Amino acid sequence: MAENPAVPLDPIDEPIDVATLTANELRAAHTLFGRALHRRPATDDGWPWTERAYAPGRTFGVHVDGALAGTATSFPTRTAVPGGAALPTAAVTRVGVRADRTRRGLLSAMMRHQLADAAARGEVLATLRASETRIYGRFGYGVASRGRTVRVRARGAGWRAGAPAGGTVRLLDPDEVVGTLAALHDRLALRRPGGMTRPDGWWSVQLGRRLAEREHVQVAVHSGADGDDGFAVWTITESGTGFGQNTARVEDLHAADTGAVAGLWRFLLGLDLLVDVEGWLRPLDEPLELLLADPRDCATTAVADETWLRLVDVAAALDARAYGAADPVLLAVHDAVLPSNGGLYRISPDGVARLDGDPDGGAPSHPEPHLECDVAALSMAYLGDRTPSELAATGWWRVHDAAAPDRADALFRTAGSPWCGTFF
Ligand SMILES: CC(C)(COP(=O)(O)OP(=O)(O)OC[C@H]1O[C@@H](n2cnc3c(N)ncnc32)[C@H](O)[C@@H]1OP(=O)(O)O)[C@@H](O)C(=O)NCCC(=O)NCCS
Repeated sequence: MAENPAVPLDPIDEPIDVATLTANELRAAHTLFGRALHRRPATDDGWPWTERAYAPGRTFGVHVDGALAGTATSFPTRTAVPGGAALPTAAVTRVGVRADRTRRGLLSAMMRHQLADAAARGEVLATLRASETRIYGRFGYGVASRGRTVRVRARGAGWRAGAPAGGTVRLLDPDEVVGTLAALHDRLALRRPGGMTRPDGWWSVQLGRRLAEREHVQVAVHSGADGDDGFAVWTITESGTGFGQNTARVEDLHAADTGAVAGLWRFLLGLDLLVDVEGWLRPLDEPLELLLADPRDCATTAVADETWLRLVDVAAALDARAYGAADPVLLAVHDAVLPSNGGLYRISPDGVARLDGDPDGGAPSHPEPHLECDVAALSMAYLGDRTPSELAATGWWRVHDAAAPDRADALFRTAGSPWCGTFF
């Protein structure tokens, strides 16, 4: 496919320096980011809600000719990894470069600076959601969880006999939404690999502002035998003319177990005046087809990348996750952006040991690796989204011992699909 016509680049003849922006510069940074995404700036009423989502001291900018030309920020969170550990993570967001300054290395400078900053803070992982898939691989990010878009017919055949019915469901008033959901999400988020905690600023910008502006966001909480154990947030769009031609768009749904999943979806599908219910970036293993009387009432309309994960501290990240039973593998990891991660790792059910030898350092490593990959391709297996053998078969990992992919599959195996469920 042809690339876009080349635009002559007006060279930047000053060093690209990345600065930490002050609180007074955040609104300009937000406006720049919004413009880069073709969005309008925050209104005066909206800005105080958005401002809370900027964690202090974590927003960077590059100035060119005295004007802000690029920005990136992050907020601190924790990510659940296989085995249940929750690792300190930089959640990278609001990345943008002014349209007349792109392709001169501003993003590259900010990404390098931001990863060094995360490492200095002791953050083991960095995570982001990518506007385009071509941007972040070069900085060591890889797709570590995916989600599916589903459309479920609300007037379909209904629930399969014998499927769990779930418990009770209650609607929340707008003024109780953020407090109730934040507490519930804290209890639910880290139950599966890929889950992340949400700081107050996330709730402020994602729900608080919209509820204050009287947007028609609806929220229900599910209660099972042990109390509240799930919630759903949805909006309604008219999908046709006349009453009853509506689509409920689920933007947030977290549940402790299959009973709570069933209870919430059953409630949504039972709402009056609906044609269908759509969910976006749902877990790949959410068992909707197994709950419905006619599995074809649930159509998967897309599968997309969700978590782009970066192992900032490879040794700590590998050491923190659990491994299945198998003989050890020796994995050589390459990391062009954070070279101290490059090395040979012995991975076994008893833990991870870093062996001497840097595969990027010139000197041969002893012993020889069984498998070899870039740090971005390691992310793809880290939470369990992809198996080492499929990554080896497709060239993401290189194989030096033909038996090693099977052993690595057993070591990295997880129950269920990784999933985060938090967009930012
Ligand atoms: C994506 C964006 C931040 C890139 O900034 P940038 O300063 O142009 O990036 P850089 O100049 O550092 O590019 C580094 C490399 O990535 C490539 N690249 C960067 N963005 C790219 C894109 N969107 N598509 C294809 N390649 C891209 C560059 O060509 C360059 O490659 P090279 O090293 O081989 O020359 C900028 O284009 C932007 O603001 N886009 C719109 C907003 C957006 O999508 N933000 C990200 C939100 S997740």
